[in-house]
Amino acid sequence: MSDISMGAEKTVLNSENTLLVIGLGLMGGSVAAAARHYGAFQQIIGYDHNSASLAIGLEKGIIDVACNDISEGLAISDVVVIAVPVLSIEKVFGAIQKSNEKSALSGTVVTDVCSCKAYVVEAARRVFQEVPAWFVPGHPVAGSDAQGISMADGQLFQAQKVILTPEPATDSVALSTVTTLWSGCGADVTFMKADEHDRLLANTSHIPHFIAFSLMKKIADHSEWFNPFCFAGGGLRDFSRIAGSDPRVWHDIGMGNRDALLEGMRDISRGINELIDCIQGNNSDALIALLQKGRSARQRFSGVLERREIISAMKDKQIMIAEPGGYIEGILQVPGDKSISHRAIILGSLAEGVTQVSGFLEGEDALATLYAFESMGVNIEGPSDGNVVIHGVGMNGLKDPETAIDLGNAGTAMRLMAGLMSAQSFNTMLTGDHSLCRRPMKRIVSPLQQMGADIEATGNGTPPLIIKGGKFLQGIHYSMPVGSAQVQSSLLLAGMYAKGKTVVESPVLVRDHTIRMLSAFGYPVSNQGKRVSLEGGDSLKSISVNIPGDISSAAFFIVAATLAEASEVLLTNVGINPTRTGILKILDLMGANITLENQRLSGGEPVADIRVRSSQLKGIVVPAHLVSLAIDEFPVLFIAAAMAEGETRVTGASELRVKESDRIETMAEGLSIMGIKVETLPDGIIIQGSNEFLGGTVDSHGDHRVAMAFVVAALKATREIRILDCANVATSFPNFISLANQAGLSVRPDCI
Ligand code: S3P
Repeated sequence: MSDISMGAEKTVLNSENTLLVIGLGLMGGSVAAAARHYGAFQQIIGYDHNSASLAIGLEKGIIDVACNDISEGLAISDVVVIAVPVLSIEKVFGAIQKSNEKSALSGTVVTDVCSCKAYVVEAARRVFQEVPAWFVPGHPVAGSDAQGISMADGQLFQAQKVILTPEPATDSVALSTVTTLWSGCGADVTFMKADEHDRLLANTSHIPHFIAFSLMKKIADHSEWFNPFCFAGGGLRDFSRIAGSDPRVWHDIGMGNRDALLEGMRDISRGINELIDCIQGNNSDALIALLQKGRSARQRFSGVLERREIISAMKDKQIMIAEPGGYIEGILQVPGDKSISHRAIILGSLAEGVTQVSGFLEGEDALATLYAFESMGVNIEGPSDGNVVIHGVGMNGLKDPETAIDLGNAGTAMRLMAGLMSAQSFNTMLTGDHSLCRRPMKRIVSPLQQMGADIEATGNGTPPLIIKGGKFLQGIHYSMPVGSAQVQSSLLLAGMYAKGKTVVESPVLVRDHTIRMLSAFGYPVSNQGKRVSLEGGDSLKSISVNIPGDISSAAFFIVAATLAEASEVLLTNVGINPTRTGILKILDLMGANITLENQRLSGGEPVADIRVRSSQLKGIVVPAHLVSLAIDEFPVLFIAAAMAEGETRVTGASELRVKESDRIETMAEGLSIMGIKVETLPDGIIIQGSNEFLGGTVDSHGDHRVAMAFVVAALKATREIRILDCANVATSFPNFISLANQAGLSVRPDCI
């Protein structure tokens, strides 16, 4: 990752912001329409020298204000998107410079959509003498040959890539403002260096366009045929679509990305010469080999396109429909523990030797960690059927990933890796999806800074995290204000590289998987419950890790079998680490019928088969000391409480407000729709028990555990329950629907 400096705190996107889009003729109309759809701006201003474009923008409701004087627009805008042809950007920078001289633009963040980043950066340098900290060069890879304001498409960026190319001087808050803008427009934001972007785009976009233009011209030039296109079919149609793009735009790109383009075109000429040689020399084998390579590259591309289409069709639209009634029976095996899966990849990568992992959770969160370490040069085989082989690189063997690490929805990955990356020799940027980019990171940033790390979050304390490498870390004695296994683990991972001792104290007991696994990998660590410590400078030796089933996933079936009459289920090989069994203790206090069978130790973690039979629950006051031990299971525990006799009261659980959603509000909203009386507290909830749920539509707000909890509720519902925004179930429990149906629930995915 290139060097990124931190600037002063400035604009952070909020609903009072004003957006100015400069240039509506090309992609600008779609930018304004997507921003309108996103809803993060109070006002959207359009600037264009073509008054017809402005009029259409107003008429279509894409912009609120048409602006003829660029400096007026700049003066009242928080975020500016420049969407003009590449060679015109210098003029726009000039206008910004002039406005700045008149009245300093305070806190305004500027980005652009041009597809030649080095040119744009140089233009900025020419105008402003240096690349301003408030300018974030960007490029949405989402064009269309149908351009112009009348073709503006608010969905254009859904599931498409936006590449940002921050410069060393780019301010981190400006960067995160632009990241948030694009994520809000549905795009998948990645980061790279400007010249890297230009070389990549020359190959994946610019050269195909120029070849399409040139080929169409060549065919038309053949004067011996009157109209050759009468004899052309789908092949030429598909190949040549992009030659219908605006020549002025492509003129600018040709001149703007000169060096990368010429280098790429020479390479393509060599490819054409290879073809000529094969055909001329009657070399069938070489020709077939060449064509086969081309075809398999295209097949890979088809896979990417397909996935992108699925994602864009499914994002926010994936729902689950659970039919009312049913009972639970059978023997079930839930997927591997998410917390342990993350840690197995992290420690396996840092170990010396080859670590064999079984039971790995092939869910999106744990896979995000796996991909992150692959991007840092770790050779990882699998996952295949839960088996992963990690060729560890040792404590100091990770390599610069070059681009930002995207951790999707995985909060655990981000917080744990923040500690580890703070101790590396290279810079890293950690980012994630829309939901992760709203989660608090100060809890790790502050103690890591105290250890000497150079790590920054946005002004809101949220991701992306920008971490500078090569820092000397010093062990600290840290008392966590809020008990968190993620914070504890993050500091221990940093502590392995720090001078001296790192001590982490917690006000409550938190899950201890990191400590158990560190010991198993041979790293000395002291565990006294709420106080853990280690000394820096030791190393990890590879082992075999057997990951047990995730009790957080088993929880849905434990509650399901308890609530549905005439049910009995055996959940095999589930982790029952005492720092995770709060759910069993709480349900026991409520009168559940749960027994642990075949208790054993597996890979340093206690494991059992859990038998659950139906029973009538009673409401309780959840003991404070059990809250941290059941923190992820509260969504489904609230469902249990809603079907218990009497009142259940949970307090001391304010952490639930900063999980994948605000789980107190999300669950209260859904339970109310289901006809359950609830009262929310700042740190908990009071639920009045009932006999049945009404059914209806609830919104999971993209929270996997909330979505699955309401599927369980259907067992006691009088009507079907439709649950919105369910795509994230795949982060922790990819086969939830099939296992739920196997167990006796009746649930199907759908799309709205
Ligand atoms: C986790 C710790 C918990 C938990 C999260 C996973 C972990 O978070 O909610 O799902 O793997 O360390 P906190 O550490 O924030 O309590």
